[in-house]
Amino acid sequence: MSGAEELIDALNGTFGHHAGYRASHAKGFSVRGRFIPASGGGEAQIPLLQSEQQVVARFSVGGGKPAISDKSPTVRGIGLEIGQNAEKWAMALISNPVFFANSAEQFKAFLAARVADPATGAPDPAKVKAFNDANPNTVPHQAYLKSVAPCRCYSAEQYHSGHAYHFGTSEGVLAARILLEPEGGRHGLTDEEKKDLPDDFLYDRLLRELSNRPARWTLKLVVANDADDISDPTVPWDGVHGELILGTVQIELPDDRAESVAKVFDPSHLPEGVAEPHDNVFALRSPAYAVSVARRSS
Ligand code: HEM
Repeated sequence: MSGAEELIDALNGTFGHHAGYRASHAKGFSVRGRFIPASGGGEAQIPLLQSEQQVVARFSVGGGKPAISDKSPTVRGIGLEIGQNAEKWAMALISNPVFFANSAEQFKAFLAARVADPATGAPDPAKVKAFNDANPNTVPHQAYLKSVAPCRCYSAEQYHSGHAYHFGTSEGVLAARILLEPEGGRHGLTDEEKKDLPDDFLYDRLLRELSNRPARWTLKLVVANDADDISDPTVPWDGVHGELILGTVQIELPDDRAESVAKVFDPSHLPEGVAEPHDNVFALRSPAYAVSVARRSS
């Protein structure tokens, strides 16, 4: 069995296999819009981003359960594809500034610790604690989720790459994490909303918003300081960071075209001017996404 198959087995082992759905971020929907370059084209030298581009995106709730509640305290995601011709940039970003594993073994162990106990239908807290104690680098991911309320709308969420990519600029090559920052800031559900809202509200809420005006995010690079770890997506970057603005991602409409719904946001599709991260997680993703795509139809 390939390493990628083992990763998908780990996801299916915790969340179940649901025919027709992604093994991770199973619940979601597609939208479309455009990328509008920063005035002057931004400081990073990415030819694709020098002109307006079409965008297909997919918003999702983390985990592999298609019926998960939109109020659940897990990550939210965006799959984003900028450009429509041969030159495209695909990324899949999460609401958490850091990821939950820095290796294949840790990814599988994290999920194994969360397989539901048949007696309670929930993960066994003792197993989760034992995993956390043995893997302290994964704790910031979980601590962040405990520190914020789930977003009140996908348009009120920020999305992070975790990985540090490498970008050419007039000053030389720099390492940076990607951040999509919502125009109106991040907003979590109030206690009242948590009580009153149904389990499915994120689609309707975004659609209502889009019927009035597009949802916008600034696409920016958060530039690594010398002290930052650029080889481990579980490690938070503390303190003040330089930022480079690439432009605006503007989401305009829901998109139920079959090719958009079925799209795979394979993060190995990078445009000229963006070089891949040097960490132990990035290379795991493309083969794992391909196995998930194959299993979607089984
Ligand atoms: C060991 C590393 C990882 C593995 C094995 C993994 C696995 C997967 C799989 C199997 C899917 C579904 C693919 C499909 O059927 O299209 C997926 C989707 C996704 N992943 Fe990952 N992932 C990893 C790392 C990450 C990281 C580091 C991030 C972001 C920081 C991320 C964000 C997402 C998002 C947002 C989606 C949903 C994309 C969509 O809507 O189609 N993943 N992941």
